[in-house]
Amino acid sequence: MGLNMREGYQGTGPGAITPDGCAVELYARLPVGSEPDIVAAAVPAGAHILELGCGVGRVTHPLLRRGFTVTAVDESPQMLQRVRGARTICSPIEQLDLGETFDVVMLASFLVHAGDAEVRRGLLRTCARHVAQDGCVLIQREGADYHTDLPRERVDPSGFTVRILSAEPVGDGVDSVRAEYVFPDATWTQTFLSRPLTGEQFEEALEEAGLQTDRCLTDDGTWVRAVRRQGS
Ligand SMILES: C[S@@+](CC[C@H](N)C(=O)[O-])C[C@H]1O[C@@H](n2cnc3c(N)ncnc32)[C@H](O)[C@@H]1O
Repeated sequence: MGLNMREGYQGTGPGAITPDGCAVELYARLPVGSEPDIVAAAVPAGAHILELGCGVGRVTHPLLRRGFTVTAVDESPQMLQRVRGARTICSPIEQLDLGETFDVVMLASFLVHAGDAEVRRGLLRTCARHVAQDGCVLIQREGADYHTDLPRERVDPSGFTVRILSAEPVGDGVDSVRAEYVFPDATWTQTFLSRPLTGEQFEEALEEAGLQTDRCLTDDGTWVRAVRRQGS
């Protein structure tokens, strides 16, 4: 168990665990999915991307290989140690203030669903503070049935199973979500707080931060391209 865990977040399994319950060794094993394709299709070639919550660089490294420049931020030094070829910054996202702007700011991994609404406000303000006037913010949201289609599992062709076991209400519209990743030689679990956001609530949260949805990047609506609100 790592030090300074965020309240309501925990993880089990071999190796270091981040304050939000993620396992470093697990993320070092997970294959990348469609994220780099989605990003590459939405932003200009060669853009400078500020990636918030980069982990071990699962998405960072393919983005670098595609010719993007990436500044990678995470609050876990153990995660950042695994990142190669990108400038790395160890910080809670909500406190980040680099005094510079980027063509693209990326807030993936459902971080926008932070259980603590004040943390979510901080995350989105960080996105707004760091996006260039004509840049964009790419946000990954939960799918519509994320909290209701339970339990569910996916067997990955590379040889592990991921299960979302439960989402138990803990008050104030927040669920405690329990996930497990089972490999032949190791199992990791993560428990985290997640606040479902309707489309309207999501848009309100963006608006509070001075952002607005420009368009959805995927048919399921889970990836959104946002821009500065006009006049912000
Ligand atoms: C679920 S992992 C995903 C990592 C990476 N985006 C990926 O897809 O492989 C979430 C990462 O975000 C980091 N993280 C979560 N909340 C954070 C916060 N508020 N500030 C900084 N890092 C955070 C965690 O330390 C962890 O490395």
